[in-house]
Amino acid sequence: MSTALYGGTFDPFHKAHRRMVKAALKSGIPDQIYVMPAGTPPHKGRRDISFSAYRYMMAKKVFAKEKYKAVKVSDYEIKESGPSYTISTVRYLRAHVLPPGELLYLIIGSDSLMEIETWHEYPALLKSCPLLVAERPGEEDRKVLEAQKKRLEKYYGACITFYPMKPSTLSSSTIREELLAGKDVKGLPKDVRAFIDKNYLYRDQPLSVLSEEQILLLRDYERKLMRLMSYGRLIHSLNVMYEAVRLAVRFGADPWAAAQAGILHDMAKEQNYHKRPDVLSRIDPSYLENKPILHGPVAAFMVREIFDIKDPAVRGAIYHHSSLSRIPAPLEKIVYLADKIEPARDYADLAPIREMAQKDLDKAVVMTIDGSAAGIEAGGGKVHKDTVAARRYLAEKIKQKEASD
Ligand SMILES: [Fe+2]
Ligand SMILES: [Fe+2]
Repeated sequence: MSTALYGGTFDPFHKAHRRMVKAALKSGIPDQIYVMPAGTPPHKGRRDISFSAYRYMMAKKVFAKEKYKAVKVSDYEIKESGPSYTISTVRYLRAHVLPPGELLYLIIGSDSLMEIETWHEYPALLKSCPLLVAERPGEEDRKVLEAQKKRLEKYYGACITFYPMKPSTLSSSTIREELLAGKDVKGLPKDVRAFIDKNYLYRDQPLSVLSEEQILLLRDYERKLMRLMSYGRLIHSLNVMYEAVRLAVRFGADPWAAAQAGILHDMAKEQNYHKRPDVLSRIDPSYLENKPILHGPVAAFMVREIFDIKDPAVRGAIYHHSSLSRIPAPLEKIVYLADKIEPARDYADLAPIREMAQKDLDKAVVMTIDGSAAGIEAGGGKVHKDTVAARRYLAEKIKQKEASD
């Protein structure tokens, strides 16, 4: 049995990535391949690199089919903090995943072979891992590649095997640019394209209003959230973060507060914090009786403990993200609305709410309350009294504003 590791940023995962993996399997050299989306890639300082869960899920979707059972997509690197170094991943796989003595190849492109001496601890990497290099005719001169192979074998004891692959001009950065410009994009596997469309990825850059430091902090939150929730819920949380920032920019609220509340709003939903007496004792009893919305108040306390969030506006928005308070603050309305209309939500009645969310926050929130109240009552539940009061307050506010216009 032999294994190969294939890492990359995969932002997004495209057909040439898939072809690398398929051609490597076809070469008959590795029996299985670990596809490893990078956490913080050491070679790139891009602040706009997509959040890890998106990149991981795109790769997962590509290899979900039975015919790819020899391919495993790993979240090891995205769960690690700090830069992702291939040598660290190789050590991890050897120590914790692969049987002792199993051969581990590293799959790279011929472009990477030419620059491998810039990689972290490359002598150790070259000594410990045979390289499987995809050779795409026409991309690099065969003579240049052969010379490089000889040199690396001579100086570092490397072991390099080429395997053939059809050439490709696809690049993730070009695909991102085309998606941003609204152009027709070729080169994405069907499942990746569907995932991008569903979650509205690469179409805009709402986080460009945040600082590099703030974005790094959000990536840190994402990593912590991986331990607290499923990938499905994490994708939803990221979508709510993006949507909350879009709404904050549109309606003049603080985008940084919106981003934090958005990404963290559901952090308690898959946990049992609500059983902790110290948490329970601080929550309004009317929320304790209402199980579907209890995870909001619970999270408002837990974000302080786990994420060191002290901002009362952020915690208030998390507390009330599925109920609102009697006189809802702007950030509360934004997170409440973002939670209901984030791109992956597909309730039947969302189109008019999304349209209203382009121009009038209060009206969009009232429409959302009405829609979800109907759902709650149809399911035999009870709308929380704060939600009822918030609706009354907002309806009155809308009426007064219309009268004065
Ligand atoms: Fe929630
Ligand atoms: Fe949510």
